[in-house]
Amino acid sequence: MNTLRYPVLMILSFMLLCGCGSPHGKPGKEAEILAPDQIMDFAILYGENCAGCHGAEGRGGAAIALADPVYLAIADDASIRNATANGVRGTAMPAFAQSAGGMLTDKQIDLITSQIRSRWGRPGFLNSANPPSYSAKSAGNPAQGALAYNTYCESCHGPGGHGGAKGSSIADPAFLALVSDQGLRTVIITGRPELGAPDWRANIPGKPISDQEITDVVAWLASQRAQSAPHANSTSNTTQHQESTNAR
Ligand code: HEC
Ligand code: HEC
Repeated sequence: MNTLRYPVLMILSFMLLCGCGSPHGKPGKEAEILAPDQIMDFAILYGENCAGCHGAEGRGGAAIALADPVYLAIADDASIRNATANGVRGTAMPAFAQSAGGMLTDKQIDLITSQIRSRWGRPGFLNSANPPSYSAKSAGNPAQGALAYNTYCESCHGPGGHGGAKGSSIADPAFLALVSDQGLRTVIITGRPELGAPDWRANIPGKPISDQEITDVVAWLASQRAQSAPHANSTSNTTQHQESTNAR
């Protein structure tokens, strides 16, 4: 027979020929080829699915650092798992759960999210710092937010949020269209330590921005998104069908 017409057979015979280290016995454990949904190794799962955006060691990527003890102190397990499983609608963060159109099993998502905390978190890290809550407690007041912006953020991100000497434009419609309100809130609380962006305590040394002021600044930024691109944060993702509760 023409073996070229049977590539699968060729691969199988190659595997048999090479014997994978034990020609006369059962193949050794290392010879087992795992189906993608059987992989239960954090380094492989994180490296293949997350590192491209969140950085090889959980930091230094385009998206927020997950290996940030400040982030892991404010975000609870359910929020981290929900974002990973269902994605963040209207942003680059994809849904990974098979139930949401992704490729990972529930067990794999449990493994990734629990190990993000066990590897990169520091228990009790912000215990005495009274951090702002992860989720906003109210809708926020854009006018108050503009004032808080001037106090805490303008020194770096420039007048009106259009960019300054020490920070990029964050009022740019193209930026706001791709970030969720929670994404803005998270980065205001955590900063981007690897990029020199301060966390909520350090915009003004000794004067932490309050929970309410963060809520208001996010409302102010979001109001500019609404004006310039009315549906920017509610556009449905064309490849994934996610719960509407992920929109914020
Ligand atoms: C294509 C880029 C991309 C990939 C791949 C990706 N992320 Fe994300 N991720 C993002 C972006 C962008 C955000 C911020 C979304 C927003 O604006 O809220 C985000 C947000 C998150 C959040 C929520 C952060 C918060 O505000 O609480 C978690 C948790 C997260 N990602 C985990 C993961 C994990 C775990 C993986 C791999 C299984 C992964 N991400 C893969 C881009 C990505
Ligand atoms: C000491 C300077 C400084 C201050 C003060 C500061 N930031 Fe930043 N911020 C940065 C830097 C640096 C970055 C990362 C690089 C960039 O995007 O410019 C950043 C990033 C961000 C990002 C993410 C941008 C992105 O591309 O993902 C947002 C949103 C943001 N800052 C909002 C704020 C808000 C709101 C405040 C006030 C509460 C604030 N920042 C205060 C320096 C600052």
